[in-house]
Amino acid sequence: MLPNDFPEDLKPRLAPTPGGDMGYDCLSCGRRHAPDQLLYTCPDCGGLLMLTDAKFDELKRKPGQFWRRLFDHRLMLNLQAIRGVFTFQEFLAPNIPLVDVVYLGEGHTPLIAAPRELAKTVGAHFFVKTEGQNPSASFKDRGMAAALSMLNNLVRVKNLGQVVAVCASTGDTSAAAALYAASLGGSVKSSVLLPKGRVTPQQLSQPLGAGAAVFELPGVFDDAMRVVERLSEKYQVALLNSKNPWRVLGQESYAYEVAQQFDYSLRDKVLVVPVGNAGNITAVLSGLLKFFRASVIDGLPKIVAVQSKRANPVFLYYRQPSASRSYAPVTVRPSVAQAAMIGDPVSFPRLTALAAQYEATAGAPAFFVVEVDETSIMESMLLANRNGLAVCTQGGECLAGLRAALAEGLVTPSETAVLDSTAHALKFVDFQNAYFEGRLLDDYGIKSRPELANKPRPVNLGAAPVPGPGVALSAEERERFVSAAAAQIAVALGLEDKAR
Ligand code: F0G
Repeated sequence: MLPNDFPEDLKPRLAPTPGGDMGYDCLSCGRRHAPDQLLYTCPDCGGLLMLTDAKFDELKRKPGQFWRRLFDHRLMLNLQAIRGVFTFQEFLAPNIPLVDVVYLGEGHTPLIAAPRELAKTVGAHFFVKTEGQNPSASFKDRGMAAALSMLNNLVRVKNLGQVVAVCASTGDTSAAAALYAASLGGSVKSSVLLPKGRVTPQQLSQPLGAGAAVFELPGVFDDAMRVVERLSEKYQVALLNSKNPWRVLGQESYAYEVAQQFDYSLRDKVLVVPVGNAGNITAVLSGLLKFFRASVIDGLPKIVAVQSKRANPVFLYYRQPSASRSYAPVTVRPSVAQAAMIGDPVSFPRLTALAAQYEATAGAPAFFVVEVDETSIMESMLLANRNGLAVCTQGGECLAGLRAALAEGLVTPSETAVLDSTAHALKFVDFQNAYFEGRLLDDYGIKSRPELANKPRPVNLGAAPVPGPGVALSAEERERFVSAAAAQIAVALGLEDKAR
């Protein structure tokens, strides 16, 4: 649709212009810092930072209806820079001009209703938001689009020359960071630190393919994260973990899209989110609060955060009575939800601050944390896949979390859940194969159920001629091959002969 065809009142706002008054707020000392620099911790006290817009209240001057119409109309505007997470520029990062926006096709992922039979098995109606359909096949692209757009802006405005970007990762942040940095044609060189043997081969291939410097470290994610923190404290580097608060802003788009996909009606909804480093859950809470405060949505959904029992510091914290909670990192054990296998989440202080605001604003219990075991994660993933929903192990963790929340009565069957299927199933396919082959018992404590296993079946052709690349069969040989193979497959499938 061409700009002239849009309603008159929306025309001036269709393409967002730079605005707002962004700044880094320190969660520890409360000081505010200018946004035109790369900060990951407070220069005064070392505390964790959040980015806020001091002019946010100006957004409230427009009625919610205005924003809903604007965002919905923007979906019809063919303007690259706002086709992704910057559809919601005013709420996300209003300072970033569209010329600096990096867009690789992220965001606006489908929301798929679970088939009726599956919903019946699970005990509630639910949808899956398929974040694996992002360009590097995970939700991390949302945050990376915002962080790299800001970096792109700083490189241009401040003439920074070449920037070295670093991140630690369980495999998806690194894939996204490498891809988005590569799109900038040399101004940002990306380096990623991975816990050796704790990312999947598919995830490892991604930053290698994008030309990043890839370092494999002994240990788990938490160890690699400490090294990256040291690098960002001591050296001139751009940190691309969600400690970088621009990442969190980009990931808020997930919440905005869920709102938009339900026509801004979220009252009876439950958002289920897997938690690792706690960047995503922070972003979801923050985005929903912003939309609620500006009356874009008229109610806050319930939030169910999910962790594996083998990496559950957030669960252990919220399990304690609210008056006397104390936080302790945990030593993680191997989990099939490997991307969320984190014992000391960097965004924990942001999460507690936002969860408290969320509960206070919702006026009723609205933030819950559940833990799930490894077997339920794998079986839920396979169940979803067997019902047409290709989810990764973290998506399986979400479904297991919904089942746990239903069993505990935190969610009722009359509510509608939205599962965050955070990455593409194919990134984690080795866990599926290991389950099928019964190889998850020792390390993960998962006993495979034979009825859920599947394997390819050889077709034994006996003396029939065998085709292959570069092998030309005669018509008679091809006929023998085709009829021998078809006959054998028909027997295996118990097919009835049409002629009978
Ligand atoms: N699901 C997937 C597929 C992930 O890659 C991650 C985190 C999470 C869930 C948890 O989200 O950290 O925001 O709480 N992966 C990070 C990484 C840590 O390095 O790729 P979170």
